[in-house]
Order: sequence, then structure tokens, then C-alpha cells
Amino acid sequence: MRGKYFINTYGCQMNVHESEKLAGILREHGYTEANTLEECDIVVFNTCCVRETAEYRVLGNLGIVKKLKESKPDLKVAVCGCMAQKPGAEQALKKRCPFINIIFGTHNLHKFGDYLDLLDSKKYIGEVWDSEGEVVENVPVYRTSGVNAWVNIMYGCNNFCSYCIVPYVRGRERSRNESVILDDVKRLIGEGYKEITLLGQNVNSYGNDLADKEVNFANLLDKIANLDGKFKVRFMTSHPKDLSEDVVKVISSSEKLADYIHLPIQAGSDRILALMNRRYTKKDYLNKIDMIRKYIPGVGLSSDIMVGFPTETEEDFLETVDVVKRVGYNNLFTFIYSRRSGTPADKMEQVDIKIKKDRISRLIDLQFEIGNEEATKCVGKTYEVLCDEWKNGKAKGKSSCEKAISFASADDIVGKFVPVKITATKNNQLKGELVK
Ligand code: SAH
Ligand code: SF4
Ligand code: F3S
Repeated sequence: MRGKYFINTYGCQMNVHESEKLAGILREHGYTEANTLEECDIVVFNTCCVRETAEYRVLGNLGIVKKLKESKPDLKVAVCGCMAQKPGAEQALKKRCPFINIIFGTHNLHKFGDYLDLLDSKKYIGEVWDSEGEVVENVPVYRTSGVNAWVNIMYGCNNFCSYCIVPYVRGRERSRNESVILDDVKRLIGEGYKEITLLGQNVNSYGNDLADKEVNFANLLDKIANLDGKFKVRFMTSHPKDLSEDVVKVISSSEKLADYIHLPIQAGSDRILALMNRRYTKKDYLNKIDMIRKYIPGVGLSSDIMVGFPTETEEDFLETVDVVKRVGYNNLFTFIYSRRSGTPADKMEQVDIKIKKDRISRLIDLQFEIGNEEATKCVGKTYEVLCDEWKNGKAKGKSSCEKAISFASADDIVGKFVPVKITATKNNQLKGELVK
């Protein structure tokens, strides 16, 4: 046994899943999981740099580890992920935190095992590849997300939204081979996973980079839906410009594909959307929502929205408010625009932080109200719920349209699909009872 590991994960689901790969590699090298940071022998920071706040959090926690290392000099520290992948970040991190033992980027995550092997003989190992290379398969995975299993279908992003750093730290779009994905999903269902979440920065571009023109996202979903077993398939994220009618039709045709789409609009003003390089208008977006609702009545929708993008005026912001009111999202992920150096938006005229804060709080309040209205409409309805948590008679789960519901159950029913009738709602939370 080599010792115990502790992984700190920041950022999106892509990173959450990559931490499962880091754990897989660590376990292959004889490490076991620590319950707390204090008891570990190696701590891994799997970082995010999508907003400044994410980077501050990493740096703050590295400060805590620095202290810990003073009393525990043998503690090893590894830093990887998107923040480490930024050009020049390795040197900057090393300078700021000389106690770090390993730094590697997103493109060479699969090499982590080699770095662990060198750890005994070297004080410092730093390697960040500047280009993405081919898709690497067969990285070990230690899954920790309960009834759900994450499955990458593609890596990278070609969209270059003007505010976003992801394309710079994740490289160009690369799709995984279709038969490899299908084999993965088949195996995971066989192992008992009840929910499969397909991951990609823009899942609708799946297959665009492959030679076989029959391979696309709609066909992939259809093939997965035709696999045997009782399970639900989710995916994220969809770019509104690329979400096709074919994909929506496939979702509506199969019980196994969840009635839920996360479709980030970012902003409602056409002028801001153009500056963001999103390549759709408010009208295009609302038309897509109508199309989705036509095929999938009762669909659950969610979105990412950013306030305070450079030059955003009150009128622009009110266009965003209008979209939120018209769509009626289940869930909204709201962000204050954060400057990312090297992106085009960083050079545009910035909005005052006070205005940004005011706009985000108005948006959060609005969504809270809408969420409550939507939740109230659910009372009396019965949903099929996949139970993902159970403790002392209290169960939790999600409907196909991704409503989170809590209910009582005498038995541990984690991993089971059960009918639950909604009886009450409090602060957007749905409570229900098992239908016998
Ligand atoms: N590929 C996905 C998600 C990317 S990052 C997509 O296109 O939707 C997740 C979210 O972070 C984005 O949807 C966006 O709302 C937000 N985000 C990205 N860059 C940001 C920045 N510079 N400041 C604030 N929020 C940002
Ligand atoms: Fe960033 Fe846009 Fe790519 Fe999403 S689609 S990762 S927001 S550049
Ligand atoms: Fe962050 Fe990287 Fe995801 S920057 S949001 S962890 S792709």
C-alpha cells in the first residue's frame, strides 16, 4: 500500500468524472481513499478556471495545504485540470506554491500514473502538454456517483464564445468512437447503474469530427435507447444553435431518454448574444423551446445565464429577464461575468461590479418565484422517480424531467424506479409519497 489519497474537485461534471479517473489511477498504484484531507498522503487538486472565483477557491485551499504540509512534510501535492492547463500556469503555480510536487494539464491526465511512479525519486514533476492529441481510452475509473455513471462522448470545444476559456484549456472537439461508447454504456448497465449521463462541452457536435457521417448525436441516443435494461439517459451540455429536431424527436420516442434538456441561453439580448459569439438570437432560442415542448410535453428545462457581460445595459438585461419569464425553467444556473485573460470579451468595455451584483440578485429572486410556481403546479401529479438516496426511512430521487423529490420509504430503494405522488412543496422543494 502506498498511502491514502484525497481529491479536491472544482468545476463542471467533466471534472467530476475526471476525478473518478484520477482515483482509478491512484488505486491502480496502490493508494486507497482517505476520508479527510488531514489523513491523506497525497492530495490532488483537479482545478477549474472558468471564473475567477473558481481560481481563488483553488488558491485558498492550496494555502490550507501549505500549512498542513508544515506539520506533515511527507504530504504530496498534485495540481491538474483546467487551471493547470492555462498557458504559463505551471510556472506561475510552481512559483506561488513551491511545495507542489506534481503539475499536469488536461491533455496529459492519463499520464498521472507515470508521475506517481516518479514521485519517490523526484521532488517535483511538471508536465503540461500544449495540444490535445488523440482520444485516450482505457483509463481506469473509480466511480463515486451512486446510481449515475458519467460517460464522456466527446472532449473539447470549437465554439469560442467570446467570454469563455474552456476551448483554450480543453482543446478542439474530439469524439469518442461510437462502438466504444455503446460498449461502455452496455457494461455500466450490466453493472447495475440506472442513470447514464453523457458528457461533452457541446454534445450536439458529437461525430462532426469523425469520418463516418452516419455517426451523430441523434443516432447515438437512438442506439443507446435500444439497449436492453431499465435505465435513464441524460446528457450535458447542449448548445442551442446545434440542438436539432432529430435529437428532440429521438428523446420523445424513448422512455429511456430523460425528458429533460439543459439549454444554456447565457443572455436574452440579441446584441449581447452576437458579442458573445453564441450564433443564435433570442427568437431562435425561443423557437427551439417551442419545438422541444411540441415533441416533449412536460419536458424539464434548465439554463445557464450570465449577467454583466461587457457593455450589457439595463435594457439588455431586461431581455434576459423576459426569456426567463417566458420559458419557466425548472432550474437556472446564474453567473456574474468574470474576465478571463486571452478571451475577446476581456478587451471589451466592462460593467461595474455593483450593477452585476444587482442584476444577479434580481435574476435569482425571479427564478425563485418561478420555481415556486412551477413546483406548486406539480402537487397532485405522480412521477416515476429514480431513488438515488435513502437513509433512516427518508428517500430522495429525480423524475425523468429532473424534478428533485423527497419522500418516505420504509425500505432502502436506492436504484429503483418508483411512482411518487407530489403532496406538498416548500421553497421549491417537492415532497411526495410512494404510490402503492
Ligand atoms: N459548454 C457548456 C458549459 C461551459 S462552462 C456550454 O456551452 O453551455 C459553464 C457555464 O459557465 C457557461 O454556460 C457559462 O454560463 C459560464 N461561464 C463561462 N465562462 C464564463 C465567464 N467568463 N464568466 C462567467 N461565467 C462563465
Ligand atoms: Fe465555453 Fe461556449 Fe464552448 Fe460552452 S460552447 S464551453 S460556453 S466556448
Ligand atoms: Fe471549469 Fe474546465 Fe469545466 S474550466 S467548467 S472544469 S471544462
